[in-house]
Amino acid sequence: MKRKVTKAIFPVAGMGTRFLPATKSVPKEIMTLVDRPLIQYAIDEAREAGIKEFIFVTSRGKGALEDYFDIAPTLEASLRKAGKRELLEILKSTNMESGAIAYIRQHKALGLGHAVWCARRLISNEPFAVILPDDVIAAEKPCLQQMVEAHQETGGCVVAAMEVPHEKASSYGILDIKEDLGAMVSVKGMVEKPKTGTEPSNLAVIGRYILTPHVLRNLTKIKQGAGGEIQLTDAIAKEIEQGRDVYGYRFRGQRFDCGSKAGFLQATVAFGLAREDLRDEFLQYLNEMVSLQQAAQ
Ligand code: UTP
Repeated sequence: MKRKVTKAIFPVAGMGTRFLPATKSVPKEIMTLVDRPLIQYAIDEAREAGIKEFIFVTSRGKGALEDYFDIAPTLEASLRKAGKRELLEILKSTNMESGAIAYIRQHKALGLGHAVWCARRLISNEPFAVILPDDVIAAEKPCLQQMVEAHQETGGCVVAAMEVPHEKASSYGILDIKEDLGAMVSVKGMVEKPKTGTEPSNLAVIGRYILTPHVLRNLTKIKQGAGGEIQLTDAIAKEIEQGRDVYGYRFRGQRFDCGSKAGFLQATVAFGLAREDLRDEFLQYLNEMVSLQQAAQ
């Protein structure tokens, strides 16, 4: 029986420059899709996958994230007084069991690999998950849960993978496929942001990982890679060189890149349309907008 995955690292120390000026004072992860911040989607997904300990790698100016998962005594008291039970219930999803959440600071934004490495002392000899909250995945069964189940079968490292157009491969970590097993692929190499035309496949890694503690040891030795950053991809690729198993997992679901403006807007439309309380009015508005745009062309 493989060890259960009960800890997840949430690297949230990036500067979010693509959303300036908003991210000057608001962490990207607090930005909302409909009425919930990105981080709430990530936490809910982790909980459903059986995660019990939540490790945030934060940075200066991310205090709003800590407050978000704290209790809000004044707000809760006033809602209680006003008999607003439904709103109190909504707030419950933001409450964390004491001690279940830890915050570690990444003092310099040296890259995703470095952010994960900052959490090394909170992980012992066990597999752990990494979730990037700006990748939001709409799925019937939450993406991380699918991956945890797959990992129970395979062990090793499992990274979420999806096909991307070849011309976009240079924006992702790309898998070099050893054997295509359907939903799973075994991997013989990984390259971060390959130059266009050099990509070994069009299977890209997106922001969900189940990793072995060896990856943390590899990160200790990893030098700056693509973009001058310490890359998580390079530490996982080292695993393969060291003869350990790495798999890509083609998850079932739709991924939105909420770290980009276009992706965020698309997610807002998709999540807005998925909400029963908003759907009719929103759809009518969208149809009107499309008609107006078409008429103006
Ligand atoms: P991004 O590449 O999206 O960078 O990071 P970013 O800083 O968040 O955003 P832009 O590109 O400036 O707009 C991917 C994930 O890795 C985390 C980010 O918080 C995000 O979840 N990250 C990145 C860190 O925690 N530390 C880093 O040094 C870099």
